[in-house]
Amino acid sequence: MAIVDFKNVFLQKKDEKGMAVEILRDLSFAVEPGVVYALAGPSGSGKSSALRLINRLDDYSDGQIYIDGQEVKAWDIRELRAKVGFMFQEAALFQGSVMENVLYGLCLRGLKKCNHEATALGLLEKVGLPAELLQRNVESLSGGQKQRVNLARTLALDPDIILMDEPTSSLDPAAANTIENLIQDLNQQGKTFILVSHNFEQIERIAAACTIVQDGQGIFSGTPTELFSNQDLANLLMNGKGARVDE
Ligand SMILES: Nc1ncnc2c1ncn2[C@@H]1O[C@H](COP(=O)(O)OP(=O)(O)O)[C@@H](O)[C@H]1O
Ligand SMILES: [Mg+2]
Repeated sequence: MAIVDFKNVFLQKKDEKGMAVEILRDLSFAVEPGVVYALAGPSGSGKSSALRLINRLDDYSDGQIYIDGQEVKAWDIRELRAKVGFMFQEAALFQGSVMENVLYGLCLRGLKKCNHEATALGLLEKVGLPAELLQRNVESLSGGQKQRVNLARTLALDPDIILMDEPTSSLDPAAANTIENLIQDLNQQGKTFILVSHNFEQIERIAAACTIVQDGQGIFSGTPTELFSNQDLANLLMNGKGARVDE
């Protein structure tokens, strides 16, 4: 059974003038447990909007999304957000120490008895950051380190599913590579990833399957190999080697 299952999902929102706009139109795809799944497609096609529906940052207008066989609307919201972690696109860290940032989600849930420092250190270790960063202000970190703190924070609630919105788009190749390796390590430990990415080389390297979203619709779902063997689609999406669709 799919761990995340989009069935004919529609999303409408109102624009600034109060006019209804269709952001997702009949989007369906199924993510098997334990895979890295990618969403790709042009800017504005609805990828971030689709991710936000999975842990109910927004609600869809029609269709269904199932997590582990249960529709997201039927999940207890706290359980859903422990099951599904979201690593946001922008550096979502707040001013403060690495430790405060890493423990943020746990504090919201009333972390009391456990040893805060040991918990934070354990999370830093999972993302390959040294213990001496614990009390550092996040402002002083590099982009790659910040993104690892961001990932550590997402891991704090031990989610089975991790949503990532362009986790490497602002990173240099070495830092991006570190994040990709972490995704692969965590995936081998059983975590399922849904990753928005513009980078088709990245998708080829780490994703087992992907969906291409265009104008709110899924225009392809399959493996990266199948994607690249579809010449028309590849031509449509690629803009030279290692292309990004929209930058
Ligand atoms: N809160 C909102 N209200 C109205 N329109 C929105 C809102 N958020 C996003 N959109 C529109 O929805 C479309 C999809 O946006 P988004 O999901 O961010 O695309 P992507 O992540 O693929 O770049 C865009 O046309 C965007 O302008
Ligand atoms: Mg986006």
